[in-house]
Amino acid sequence: MEVKFFNKRGEEVKKKPLKLKWVDFDIKKEFEHFMIKEIYEQPLVSKILIDSLKTEQSDIVNKFLDEIEKANKIVFIAAGSSYHSSLMGSRLLRELGYEAYSVLASEYKDMKYDKNTLIIAVSQSGETMDVILALKDLKERAKKVLSVVNVPYSTIQRISDSSLEIKAGPEKCVAATKTYTNQVIAFLYLANRLGMKVNVEEIPDEINRTINMNEERVKEIARDLKEERDIFIIGRGINYYSSLEISLKLKEISYIHAEALAGGELKHGTLALIEKGTKVLALNPSWDIDIKTNIEEVASRGGVVYEIPKDFYAKESYPNFSLYSVIVGQLLTYYTAREKGLPIDYPRNLAKSVTVK
Ligand code: G6P
Repeated sequence: MEVKFFNKRGEEVKKKPLKLKWVDFDIKKEFEHFMIKEIYEQPLVSKILIDSLKTEQSDIVNKFLDEIEKANKIVFIAAGSSYHSSLMGSRLLRELGYEAYSVLASEYKDMKYDKNTLIIAVSQSGETMDVILALKDLKERAKKVLSVVNVPYSTIQRISDSSLEIKAGPEKCVAATKTYTNQVIAFLYLANRLGMKVNVEEIPDEINRTINMNEERVKEIARDLKEERDIFIIGRGINYYSSLEISLKLKEISYIHAEALAGGELKHGTLALIEKGTKVLALNPSWDIDIKTNIEEVASRGGVVYEIPKDFYAKESYPNFSLYSVIVGQLLTYYTAREKGLPIDYPRNLAKSVTVK
């Protein structure tokens, strides 16, 4: 097929073709839905990303590290699941001593920007309108605009001064799974390079283990969850951000009203909703003393608490546990939606890429 381009005056405009390096993954297993296929692709795509950060993208990684070190303030701008991964990114940087924040793209004006502010846009599609509008405004006002995208040559990548690709390949299910995971891995990798102790190498195998060790248990619990209208997800510290992502998955794909909250906030309102049989998912790694009190607060009122890692497998390494917990949440979402006979890949009222304001 031949394609020709013309300008407003009807004159032909010559364009140079560009071959996209955009491969789909052919993993040898039959899947009923894209969502579960994409969950299963995570061990592979996480490995591809980690390898590329160390090799073909190492110059871009160095550029990111250099810009982060030079900035007075770092602001991540994103929407949806990308916003949740950016919360992990900014949290990791704060743990390392940087002044870093995440803002929702649609609320980006809720922050002060100047020539010492580094912007890091995070977007799977690279086409989310709210992010594009924020970047267009900030391009001249901020120090630099960096981005972390999945789709090469996307608008956000082209606006950016420098862009890291997360190499997750095409994601077809409306809900982000493998792209969320690879965004988080990119941030874990950067944090590690900036001096945080992160076992990046274990991640692909651990994701694989998390999927395999949990599937049967998740299917069992999905049968309980399918009747629920509400569920609460609690976590503290960095795990609070994982709770937000798990709740988003449960809402958009399983159609369950899922509310994430920082454990410490339970007593400020939500405890009033806990009664006999209320379901709560708690991210409860051994080092988190305070979440144990929150679990007791729920259990003593008759709430049913499912715990990661007590009821599911998730390796307790810091900060990777946060990522492994989300993998459990993805599986729980998928199997609950399947139990309910929902459309899964194409949930009602939602779009994969939101290109309107
Ligand atoms: C839509 C998708 C979400 C995604 C969000 C942000 O709402 O359904 O899965 O997280 O857009 O998209 P982006 O492409 O910018 O990551």
